[in-house]
Amino acid sequence: MEVNSIGVMGAGVMGHGIAQVAAQAGISITLRDIKEEFVQMGIRNVEQFMDQGIKRGKLTEEQKKETLAGIKGVTDLTEAVEGVDLIIEAIVEDLEEKKRFFRELDEICPANVIFASNTSYLSITELAASTKRPDRFIGMHWFNPPQIMRLIEVVRTPSTSEETVGAIVDLSKRVGKTPVVCRDSPGFVVNRILQPWYNEGMRLLEEGIATAKDIDTAIKVGGGFRMGPLELRDLVGLDTGLKGTLAIYEQLRDDKFRPPQCLIKKVQAGHYGRKTKRGFYEYQ
Ligand SMILES: NC(=O)c1ccc[n+]([C@@H]2O[C@H](COP(=O)([O-])OP(=O)(O)OC[C@H]3O[C@@H](n4cnc5c(N)ncnc54)[C@H](O)[C@@H]3O)[C@@H](O)[C@H]2O)c1
Repeated sequence: MEVNSIGVMGAGVMGHGIAQVAAQAGISITLRDIKEEFVQMGIRNVEQFMDQGIKRGKLTEEQKKETLAGIKGVTDLTEAVEGVDLIIEAIVEDLEEKKRFFRELDEICPANVIFASNTSYLSITELAASTKRPDRFIGMHWFNPPQIMRLIEVVRTPSTSEETVGAIVDLSKRVGKTPVVCRDSPGFVVNRILQPWYNEGMRLLEEGIATAKDIDTAIKVGGGFRMGPLELRDLVGLDTGLKGTLAIYEQLRDDKFRPPQCLIKKVQAGHYGRKTKRGFYEYQ
C-alpha cells in the first residue's frame, strides 16, 4: 500500500516537523491541533524553518511555497481524516489521552487507514488494543527535530501486519529517512541504549570518580561520541530525561534504568539544563 495522504495529529514540536518533511516529499498533509492558534503556530514554525534553509541556500522559495501549499491546517477532526491513508499521532505523551484519541479516530476512519503513534515511551501494543485495527497499528518514532534527524524507529506489535510494516518502511524511505524495524519494547532501540548510558555518567559524577567536564571529555575523546552524557542530558532537558528513564524503569524494573538521585534532585530544584541555564553545567 502506498501512502499518499497523511493526517498529522498535533502541530507541536514533532507534529509540525513531521508535516513539513512529508509535504516536502510531495505527500498531501492535513495538520490538526485542538485550537486554531496551535495549528497556525505549527505552520509558522514550518515557514520559519524553511526560511532558515533558504537563507543558507539549502532550499528555494518555490520549495517553500509548494510545501506550505501541501499542508492544510485544521481543527475539525472529521476534516482532518478525510481521504487520508495514514494517521501519524503526535499529541501529548499521555497514555489515557492517546487511547481516548485513538478510540475516537477508530470510529470515524475507514478500516483501511493505518494508525501510527510517535510515542517515545508508551506501549504501542496497549495503544493498538484501544482500536479495532491492531493489524493496521504501528509505532513510527521520529527524532527531534524531524527535519534534521534521519532515523525512524518502526515499531511493530505481535498483531501488526507485514503490509503495515512494509507501508511505513517504504514511506520512511520516500521522505528521506532511514527506517529501523523493531518489536514493541520500552524505549525501543535508541532510548533503551541511551538511558543507562546517561545514568552511568551521572553515577560516576555522584561517586566523585570524575568531574562532569572530565566525564564528558572522556566519552567524546575516548569513545568517539559527539557529546558526553551530561552535556547531552542538559541539552535535551533533565525534566524530559527523568520522565523517559522513569517510564522505562517502571516497565522493565531493571536497576540500570533507575534514575540517579542527582537527576531527581536537579529536577526538583528546577534545574532542567540549558533551558533553565542550569543543570550539570551553568550557562550564560
Ligand atoms: N519532543 C521530542 O523530542 C519528541 C521526540 C520523539 C517523540 N516525541 C513524542 O511525540 C509526541 C508529541 O510530542 P511533542 O514534543 O511534539 O509535544 P508538544 O506538546 O510540542 O505537541 C503536542 C501537541 O498536540 C496537541 N494536542 C493535544 N491533544 C490533541 C488532540 N486530541 N488532537 C490534536 N492535537 C492535540 C497539543 O495542543 C500540542 O500542540 C509525544 O508522544 C512525544 O513523546 C517527542
